[in-house]
Amino acid sequence: MTNYKNVLFENNGEIVHLTINRPDKLNALNIDTIAEIKTAFEEIYDDSTIKGVIVKGAGEKAFVAGADISEIAELTEVNARKFAEAGQEVFASIENCHKPVIALVNGFALGGGCELAMACHMRVATATARFGQPEVNLGVIPGYGGTQRLTQLVGKAKSFELCMTGDMIKADEALQLGLVNHVMESIEAAQAKSEEILGKIMAKAPVAIGLVIDCINAVNNEQENGYQTEANGFAACTKTSDFEEGTTAFLERRKAAFKGE
Ligand code: COA
Repeated sequence: MTNYKNVLFENNGEIVHLTINRPDKLNALNIDTIAEIKTAFEEIYDDSTIKGVIVKGAGEKAFVAGADISEIAELTEVNARKFAEAGQEVFASIENCHKPVIALVNGFALGGGCELAMACHMRVATATARFGQPEVNLGVIPGYGGTQRLTQLVGKAKSFELCMTGDMIKADEALQLGLVNHVMESIEAAQAKSEEILGKIMAKAPVAIGLVIDCINAVNNEQENGYQTEANGFAACTKTSDFEEGTTAFLERRKAAFKGE
């Protein structure tokens, strides 16, 4: 069992609740926290009993208020590149996880916090959530994939505006832009909504879910032809017993019972 210091890893049997746990620093991501997120996702990849993940921040004020500025302030050109690449790799492992990952965003999701939320497959926010890429206020730019994923989610014009002004936006605007999937009135409601979405996904064929994730991520990979990835994934599904079960259950007018095989 891993001994985490900066995150809480709570496994309720099927869903892991991964809480960034530095509330005194508004859950700012220092290097140790990034390393723990990496380890947590390795555990999530390896444990077949885990079916879905909710990522959130501890305390009332923030999801994550960014990378830890006290560490950023010390970076030089050489280690800044390593810093960004290491974080990008961890966030890519979230995006490529074959199990659904939802960010439950309450309060500030700024800089690396917005980037962490965007690396998750979906975002459920509370009405108090605030999103932004304020790195330019510090004389730097986003380094954990923010310029790329924000542009993918909201388009170039809004991404230019947010990354260049450093402005924060409220949850309702984030919803309108397609940055978040749902806005709920309270943390409890956001938690319930996240679990409801995961519950629906967990009732489907897990191999198919993993392949959907690969195909949708292929959209943003220039080295990959997403249509080919989709055709390959479609063909791969036919080799699973879940495909036989899903189609047979439909024809027999009963609910499918998937096994992940
Ligand atoms: N890195 C390190 N520490 C951070 C932090 C960050 N990204 N964001 C907040 N904190 C710390 C503060 O330094 C403060 O610590 P202290 O009590 O030891 O002084 C604590 O968290 C609370 O933050 P505070 O600024 O007092 O709260 P606030 O309610 O007045 O303001 C924010 C909230 C989010 C507007 C403000 O903290 C902020 O602008 N944070 C930085 C956001 C940012 O630029 N992120 C991108 C980083 S690349």
